[in-house]
Amino acid sequence: FPDLPERGRPVGFRSVGDNTLDTIVVPNGYDWSVTVAWGDPILPGAPEFDFDNQTEAAQLGQFGYNCDFVAILPLDRDFTKGLLWVNHEYTNEELMFRGWTGAAGITLEQLKVVQAAHGGSVVELERVAETGEWLPVGGRRRYNRRIHTKTEFLVTGPVAGSDLLKTSADKTGKKILGMLNNCAGGTTPWGTILSGEENFNQYFGSSAAITDPTVAARYARYGLRTTAGTERNWEKGDKRFDLAQEPNEPNRFGWIVEIDPFDPESTPRKHTALGRMKHEGATISIAEDGRAVAYMGDDERFDYVYKFISKNKFRPGDSKRDRDSNLRLLEEGDLYVAKFTGDSPAAEIDGTGKVPSDGAFDGTGQWIPLVVNGQSKVQGMTVAEVLTFTRLAGDRVGATKMDRPEDVERNPVTGTIVIALTNNTSRNATTGADETNPRFANKWGHVVGIDETGNDAAAMTFTWNIIMLAGDPNDASTYYGGFDKTQVSHLSCPDNVAFDPAGRLWISTDGMPSASGIADGLFVVPVEGPDKGHVRRFASVPRNAECCGPFITPDGRTATIAVQHPGEGGTASPENPISTFPYGDQPRPSVVTVWRKSPGNGPFIGD
Ligand code: FEO
Ligand code: CA
Ligand code: CA
Ligand code: CA
Repeated sequence: FPDLPERGRPVGFRSVGDNTLDTIVVPNGYDWSVTVAWGDPILPGAPEFDFDNQTEAAQLGQFGYNCDFVAILPLDRDFTKGLLWVNHEYTNEELMFRGWTGAAGITLEQLKVVQAAHGGSVVELERVAETGEWLPVGGRRRYNRRIHTKTEFLVTGPVAGSDLLKTSADKTGKKILGMLNNCAGGTTPWGTILSGEENFNQYFGSSAAITDPTVAARYARYGLRTTAGTERNWEKGDKRFDLAQEPNEPNRFGWIVEIDPFDPESTPRKHTALGRMKHEGATISIAEDGRAVAYMGDDERFDYVYKFISKNKFRPGDSKRDRDSNLRLLEEGDLYVAKFTGDSPAAEIDGTGKVPSDGAFDGTGQWIPLVVNGQSKVQGMTVAEVLTFTRLAGDRVGATKMDRPEDVERNPVTGTIVIALTNNTSRNATTGADETNPRFANKWGHVVGIDETGNDAAAMTFTWNIIMLAGDPNDASTYYGGFDKTQVSHLSCPDNVAFDPAGRLWISTDGMPSASGIADGLFVVPVEGPDKGHVRRFASVPRNAECCGPFITPDGRTATIAVQHPGEGGTASPENPISTFPYGDQPRPSVVTVWRKSPGNGPFIGD
């Protein structure tokens, strides 16, 4: 792209105000349209969406439910065509089916529909030249694909074939049907998608209490049931989700998966070398020596931040040999967990968010080894155990307990790694606060930046600082990087992050309706230059939706947003009506594109 925004470029639009409107709101000079929504047919022969006649067969060919991570990979040099990847994280049965009375009443066909609505979609798009908006291509769509709960995955890495992964249906421990609760993700420099399996625990019920103490302790650490009962009732129609019958089935979820959208016939893979947790996602950076580094968050209160360093080096060429080699990079390597140390006296961190006397929440940190050179570095745990029960390994080595680490992504322009910590209302005087997680009852969340030593992703040490203590700028406990708080937009519950070609940080939120009474949205903040720290709201999403994605095209011209779970928690009361986004009837999770209508301050998104 010949014209790209320069580093440190300020932001020029007027912020979208706080609101609770049931639509997408964008700044003056911008417009948006729906790119694709739940139920849209994307595979040949799939029927049009029919709310009252849903079938598994239809859903398998239609765009899935709750959209989370989105990316568009270019199909041509000028980026007029692209492949959209979207995670379908989970389902809201109460909004999907008329007359839904609860999981106890789920029918077998409904179960199959919701299982088919999970996973991900590949949709071939083209850009409308006049506007820049992205729409599905007409005619032949050779790349379109649905990944769902019955898609076969191959297991790679040290845990492949382990007894921990064997079930009555898979004696090899190497073949898994489906991916579940895929939340955030990333693209790789070799043209694939990474996607994190997050809250997989909710799909498992148990017909009997779990009595083996080792198994029960492992289940408990991952939020799985240890008593008889169910949340979603999947095990009633699909016995692999019954823990009492298939105790290893949950070990087969909670991984980072890799999908090659350019090869619709390819078998997606679950990479065990990257550990098992409630993976928010994984984003790749290339180290000075060429190894691939994956940064990862485990989205749970008091859980950890991780990084994986590949054994082999990324090959920048595009020969078949280069590509085949790159496709195997995440199969072998070392896994680390983050330990943060503050540089201010512990007594100055009192849980209120008051800035310490040295003027910053900051300090140093180290990456603690869990698995290196194929050897376990954790006392009393084998490599397979460290990678399958990674949370227990993190507990043993004293990693820093964070306030729900969501997206972790490196700024390609500055090298800073940004960690979104969405919130943690359970932090209190008993659990303690630390300089990295300094607020008790942290309902608004915060954002931490890591600078690796030597700006090298393979470094073993780093410095860090808090970029933002989010929330109502009028509240004394918030901190917007030292920027004048009367000028910034109210951002709370940071979840997903992205960067534009100028290195400006984009943050989407999850939880503002409950934490702050206003809609979730997309925000942008310059990280250097005169406008550094000036947070502005760029978009808000419909009623009771969470704002996901976001994806800024590499030419800096369009933004793509996923509207996740519009209507969730709506009560059909006048105070809290159910969203009708986007078509005025039942809510449909959707992907939308935002583009500039008029040049305003400049040609790029955010100008
Ligand atoms: Fe699916 Fe961590 O949000
Ligand atoms: Ca300090
Ligand atoms: Ca998320
Ligand atoms: Ca979230």
